[in-house]
Amino acid sequence: MADHAFVTLATNDSYVKGALVLGSSLRKHHTTKKLAVLITPQVSDSMRKVLDKVYDDVREVDVLDSEDTAHLALMERPELGVTLTKLHCWALTEYTKCVFMDADTMVVSNVDELFEREELSAAPDPGWPDCFNSGVFVYQPSTETYNQLLQLATEKGSFDGGDQGLLNSFFNTWSTKDIHKHLPFIYNLSSISIYSYLPAFKAFGANAKVVHFLGKVKPWNYTYDSKTQTVKGDGHDQTLIHPEFLNLWWDIYTSRILSLLTEHGVVKEASYGLKALSGLVCSLAFSCRFCREEEVTEAVSQMSLAAAAPPPPPPSLSSEERRERWEQGQVDYMGEDSYENIKKKLDTYLQ
Ligand code: UDP
Ligand code: GLC
Ligand code: MN
Repeated sequence: MADHAFVTLATNDSYVKGALVLGSSLRKHHTTKKLAVLITPQVSDSMRKVLDKVYDDVREVDVLDSEDTAHLALMERPELGVTLTKLHCWALTEYTKCVFMDADTMVVSNVDELFEREELSAAPDPGWPDCFNSGVFVYQPSTETYNQLLQLATEKGSFDGGDQGLLNSFFNTWSTKDIHKHLPFIYNLSSISIYSYLPAFKAFGANAKVVHFLGKVKPWNYTYDSKTQTVKGDGHDQTLIHPEFLNLWWDIYTSRILSLLTEHGVVKEASYGLKALSGLVCSLAFSCRFCREEEVTEAVSQMSLAAAAPPPPPPSLSSEERRERWEQGQVDYMGEDSYENIKKKLDTYLQ
């Protein structure tokens, strides 16, 4: 339907990479809906041209930033104040219904059936399931709602400093009123849940329709080895994001986006080939929403990072100390508490 659209947001060129993969994943799975992206002045001209190839509607909007450092600090995500820019999606009134999707999401099947839902439909947030996660939601553009949301943002602000806190305060009957507005979790499967409830992931993960790379480390922060077609680990080959989904993201990026970036001069062909041949090592220090140790290094251009030394190994802890840390939410995703180790342990229990 021409008056239905998937909508996303990118305030800088890094998030544009995510938006490009999201848009391509929707096209790959034959969506019949329009694709719209909200961008802000910071997005470069060349990236806008690439967006034009994937999206039907590329729309510049002003940045809305809560600058609410106190609340954002609680999430340890100072950069998320700009997510209030998402509110502009209600102003797209030429569409009668939309599905907003974060730029760090990707569809793994057609999800056009989401348009059968009403505003505001969303899946539970894995950290506080009485709140919905605002990475994927069905909504109805409306100038009235838009103005009310802006008014709430100005007068009361957001309890998390970003859009999710604000939207949950506005649509505050979501958790109690109408179960039809609860999207199944498979429409917003966040990587963090895979590790917090691995048996459920094993049982239901294959039904996933939308993957959400929620957290500070995004797929475009990793380095991809085009020779082996895998994302490089740090030697332990363990990643915070489920490797299968991460490889899928990179598969779309290299097969569908890289040629567009090369065509528009964003990525230089020669350096891409050279670096890919040299075999890169992931240089990231990991941190996420719940486990924050070191700053993440942004891959300036996905293939242009020189090989760097892996981060130093964490000090070894007794089993008791590790348990205490785990219970406090300090999970060593890259080491002892890695996906592989948890899986091994569960397998021994299950046998
Ligand atoms: N976003 C953006 N620029 C930023 C931060 C966020 O464009 O600097 C947009 C983007 O669409 C992103 C969404 O806001 O997917 C929400 O932020 P993010 O996905 O990083 O939050 P998380 O889901 O990890 O909590
Ligand atoms: C959440 C959501 C994201 C939102 C952010 C800030 O974690 O995944 O979409 O922008 O919180 O509220
Ligand atoms: Mn997100």
